[in-house]
Parts: sequence; structure tokens; C-alpha cells
Amino acid sequence: MGRIIIVSNRLPITIHQNGTGFSYRSSAGGLATGLNSMDRSLERVWVGWPGEEITLPAIQEQVLEDLIQDGLVPVFLSKKEIELYYEGFSNKTIWPHFHYFTQYTTYQDDYWEAYSLVNQKFADAIKPILQPDDLVWVHDYQLMLLPAMIREFAPQTSIGFFLHIPFPSYEIFRVLPWREALLKGVLGADQIGFHTFGYMRHFLSAAYRLGGYEHLYGKLRVGHRLINVDVFPMGIDYEKYAHPEIDLYANDDSFKIKQLARNKRIIVSIDRLDYTKGIPQRIKAFEQFIERYPEYIGKVSLVLIAVPSRSNVDNYRKLKQSIDTLVGKINSAYGSFDWMPIQYLYRSLNFNELSTLYQVADIAMITPLRDGMNLVAKEYIAAKDETKRGVLILSEMAGAANELSSALLVNPHDINKMAEVIQQALEMNENEQVWRMETMQQHLKRYNVRHWANTFVQEQKRLMEQQQAFNNM
Ligand code: F6P
Repeated sequence: MGRIIIVSNRLPITIHQNGTGFSYRSSAGGLATGLNSMDRSLERVWVGWPGEEITLPAIQEQVLEDLIQDGLVPVFLSKKEIELYYEGFSNKTIWPHFHYFTQYTTYQDDYWEAYSLVNQKFADAIKPILQPDDLVWVHDYQLMLLPAMIREFAPQTSIGFFLHIPFPSYEIFRVLPWREALLKGVLGADQIGFHTFGYMRHFLSAAYRLGGYEHLYGKLRVGHRLINVDVFPMGIDYEKYAHPEIDLYANDDSFKIKQLARNKRIIVSIDRLDYTKGIPQRIKAFEQFIERYPEYIGKVSLVLIAVPSRSNVDNYRKLKQSIDTLVGKINSAYGSFDWMPIQYLYRSLNFNELSTLYQVADIAMITPLRDGMNLVAKEYIAAKDETKRGVLILSEMAGAANELSSALLVNPHDINKMAEVIQQALEMNENEQVWRMETMQQHLKRYNVRHWANTFVQEQKRLMEQQQAFNNM
């Protein structure tokens, strides 16, 4: 086998142009961390967008030259492409639709055209670098047309596709006018992976009902090709969170986070600020908790971290306003000079701060309305590797709930019940906390991100070798 070519919308680094100069910073997100910790015995090339518009050709050339040394191939996108392909079709059409927010789905032909053109742009970037034995692994909903586009010019190449978000029920998927094209794009792959059995089942159902493609034991027959469709739940870098290298002298807020937890119990909530994450419902559940159980007033705080995300998209901006209002209302009603019910920050945390927060948090409340997987829930469990104390309240609608069944599972729309579960979590005895933690930790330790990436690639490699042996017969 040759190299592995990873293709994702974002590169693991972001390039920021300031005037005639530029700077690099690493991109946040589980995918970058995950793929970075993959088995390094394979030579790796990573194709993706560097996260911002780079207007100067001289900077583009310099970036190309710099990045290629690290095996990174940037695909530059113009402002218009970012607006129509990334903010538009990816995040105003597919993202809401696949997360069952059909009221937010935007149907615009110019979004679709840009999505097709940018997928083609990625294909054009891959074409000149592709070598005969390379294995290609395409990631996520921004690039659903790409597998078939690569197959056009490289019919023998082994192509994998992994969807990091839910694949919706056929009844939802069928509503999209571009459903056949999206399906056909993904079916260009030899192997298609999902986080959960449910997403895979929905995909197989869409393939059958839209294209008449039948499947048997996870193999989907498309013409003369057999596609492997399977479940590969993504894990985390367990050791990184279990034994974090905390810099005690870092110039950040870690110390203040510790102070915050000195004489009160902490419930942590961390997400990108996204309407799929159920943030308003979670805040309301906390409000109801203090109303119903006033003995906790002054003793428990919700630390709510909302990480800025896709802020050019209208629905994200509106959500920010409604969260600001809700938090203001609760803090002004219940807060005092020595206690704020909700400590609300609209920013990202560095690793030091994040690890400290996980460590001091008595409870993590991760209650998305819909979520492909949710790695924050897994990170919180890993961060409790030493103490084994802490309780995870997790939404049934997160892919992670399939693996973390020892968490306190809740319906994120059921605000009454969530308020009750907060109280249950605060009162849980230590023995119960320990057995729940240990059960989940054992699972996450074993099924870590390295296991996820290596299993996907090994399986694809096995298929590729089978295919090559068959061709040589
Ligand atoms: O969950 C899907 C996903 O694409 C992740 O892979 C990524 O970390 C996250 O959404 C952030 O998305 P964006 O690239 O739009 O900031």
C-alpha cells in the first residue's frame, strides 16, 4: 500500500492573513486530534481548506511551499465560496437537515452549485498528487460528492468515506431535492463509515429506497461493485485527558477555575455555540432545578462555556442572543454578591483550562438535541481516570449515548426530568459514581481514537488488497 490521503473540509491548521503577512494556528476539533494520533507507519498527506480566505497569490504560494513539507495540501477558497459552500450548503442546508432541524434547512440553487464546484475543486487538488497505491479517506458532510468525483479519474483507487454527523431517517433525507446526487457522491467510496448503527441503518435504507441498492451483511451492491458499510464509533485520545500535562505556570485562567470550585459544586457544560446542542433547554433545566430545590442556592454553579462557531450564519447569531438573554434573566433573578448561578463564557478554552475544568467539575451536563457523536462527554470521563468521582448527564440523542450507557441518560427536551436528574447526580453516592465511571473508562481506554482510525484504515486496506488480488486473477 502507498500513502494515506486524508481529505477534510478543514486542515488541522488555520492560516490567518493580516495585511501582507500571515500566521498559523492549529484548528480545534476532534478530527484533527484524532487523525494526528494515527499509526505513523503510513506516510500521510492531508488535503483541506486552511480555514480563512487568503487573497494574496504570493501568500498562497508561500503557504503551499511551507505546508507541503508537513504533508499538508491547502485548497484555497474565495470569500464567495466560503459563503455559499461552507456557510451555505454545508451549514445552512445539510447541517440543519441531517440534525432534524428541517425548519432551518435552506433550499438554494446557488448554494448547491457552489457545493458541487468546491467538491470538484478538492478533486482537482487531489488528482495531481494521487499515486497508484494510495488509499484515500474522505471526511464528512462538506464533501459528500467527492468520493464519486475521485472515482471518475481514478477508478481503481481505494476510497473511504466517514460521516461525522448523523445520517437522518429516510423520511427526512428524501425531502432534499439533491438527495440522489448526494447519495451517488458517497457511493463512489469503497467503504462508508458511521458513528452508530442507527445512522448506518438510515443510510442503507436511503440507498435502497432511492437507488434500489440492496445490501447483505453490510455489503452494498452498486452495479458490479461491493461497498463495505459499517459502524466505526470515534474515540478520543484517552491518555491525553486521563493524564494531562498541565502547565502550572501558564498565563491563563486555570487557577481561577480552581478557585471557582473551592467552596461550591460545579456543573460544567461545554459546546460549540450551535442550535443542535440544546443549550437553552439545559439552561432552563438548571433554572428549574434551583426553583425546585432551593437548598442548593449558593452551593452549585453551572459553568457554561459556549465556543464561538459559524458566527456568520444567522441562526447561530440569533441563538447567541437568546442564550445571552436567558442567562441574564436567571443570574439577575437568583444571583447575589457572592454567588452567580451561571458562569457564562463565550470563548474557547485552551487545553490547560479545559483539563482543569473537567477535573473540578462534579457533573458534566452534555445534552444535545442531536449530535453525531460528542467527544466532550468522552473527554470528561477520561479526565476522571484518577479520582473516579463525577457524574455525566448525557443526552440520549448523542451518538456517544450508545457507548456511554452508564451515564445518566436524559431526553434533552424533557426539562422537568433534567432538573430532577441534576439533583440525582448531586446526591449520587461515591460507590455509584465509581462504578459508573470505571465502566465507561474501561470502554473509552480500549476504543480510543487510534483504534477508530486504525480499524477504519485496516479494514479499507484489507478490501483494497482483496480487490487487487481479484483484478490480478
Ligand atoms: O461535528 C462535525 C464537525 O464538522 C467536526 O468535525 C468539527 O470539529 C465541527 O463540526 C466544527 O465545524 P466547523 O469546521 O464548521 O467549525
